[in-house]
Amino acid sequence: MGTIKHLACGLCERTFSPGQLHNLCSCGGSLFARYDFAAIRQTWNKGDLATDRRCDMWRYGPVLPADSQEAVTLTEGWTPQFTAWALGFELKAGNLWIKDDGRNPTDSFKARGMSTAVTLAKKLGARKLAVASAGNAAGALAAYSAAAGLQAYIFMPKDVPQGNFLECKAFGAHVTLVDGLISDCGKIVAERKEREGWFDVSTLKEPYRIEGKKTMGYEIAEQLGWTLPDAILYPCGGGVGLIGMWKAFAELAELGWIGSKRPKMIAVQAEGCQPIVDAFQREEPSSRMWPDAHTLASGLRVPKPLGDVHVLRAVRESGGTAIAVSDGEMMDGVELLGRNEGIFAAPEGGAAVAGLRRLLENGFLKRDEHILLYNTGSGLKYLEAFSARYRRQREGEQDKLGGLITPR
Ligand SMILES: Cc1ncc(COP(=O)(O)O)c(C=O)c1O
Repeated sequence: MGTIKHLACGLCERTFSPGQLHNLCSCGGSLFARYDFAAIRQTWNKGDLATDRRCDMWRYGPVLPADSQEAVTLTEGWTPQFTAWALGFELKAGNLWIKDDGRNPTDSFKARGMSTAVTLAKKLGARKLAVASAGNAAGALAAYSAAAGLQAYIFMPKDVPQGNFLECKAFGAHVTLVDGLISDCGKIVAERKEREGWFDVSTLKEPYRIEGKKTMGYEIAEQLGWTLPDAILYPCGGGVGLIGMWKAFAELAELGWIGSKRPKMIAVQAEGCQPIVDAFQREEPSSRMWPDAHTLASGLRVPKPLGDVHVLRAVRESGGTAIAVSDGEMMDGVELLGRNEGIFAAPEGGAAVAGLRRLLENGFLKRDEHILLYNTGSGLKYLEAFSARYRRQREGEQDKLGGLITPR
């Protein structure tokens, strides 16, 4: 377990004690854990990791907020990262990498954040955990709550993939389907949490999900021999994975394990819900509520990300960009990964592939660059979307995807 000096508000820098439960700062900012890297450097180095046989994200225990022995874990993280040989983008051989987080417990990268969040919530005395979720975070909270012996209260849009609903039920969570978007779910949790005694673990509303997510960045660096790619394409909804990776790279620099080079961080969004792309293009520091958000990539249907300021800052500081792709392009991306690499990705992962195609075409990315595609989840959670695509293809219809998840 790392020595956390304090938690700090990401907007006003006010500090908080890590020894008690916290949600947002009074200014509305999210809290982030700050470690004592001088102390950590004395007792931990890259060589320790080379001989560490632990094959999950808790191998990074010295920069995580709890001891690995007290972790609520289902062996999340340390997912495969491999060279994509056959995607056909004509990149220099060996220059395209895929990190496959569909191989996590509950089949998505959300497992990482929920492992740390549930560990800390339990340790600090919470018994009932609530979340507003687009789907996969709900499944992960339900699973980790079950493993921790805690109660999970889930609020999801009523048109989430059936897989997310069913896994939550199977894990014994209390599930409410809401006629609205994740933002409406968030309002319900905020209104009821005090009365019900719930601790809110929704995206960036507590400080520790981001700590699990940052292990994505630690793993990319370690699995590439402590180097970083030139660009990372990340399917961006709330943006926590992107913020987490950016935090990891700053921490790795403080540890002295990487040089000054940072990847261009690329946020890929859906055409039907692109608040980050919109703010990036307007050169604004935060996003505006995206109207009538719709996309079949349910994880990307976040009309106004709470962490927009942090996502936009990371994208800009890194020299990256934000780009939107259509649902059809995403599904083509999934198919490309499936047929050429044997990975059945979530539509969100397909979005990263589609983003790569666009950015190579418009010259933002070069064919001799070292590029990493982040697949955040498994296609098996999205059976309605794939059934619709293949039914249409069987019936000889043109594959026009208007969004299984439609505008309200
Ligand atoms: C599979 C998948 N990919 C990407 C995202 C977006 O994640 P983030 O909030 O970190 O941007 C989600 C969110 O639910 C998701 O489920």
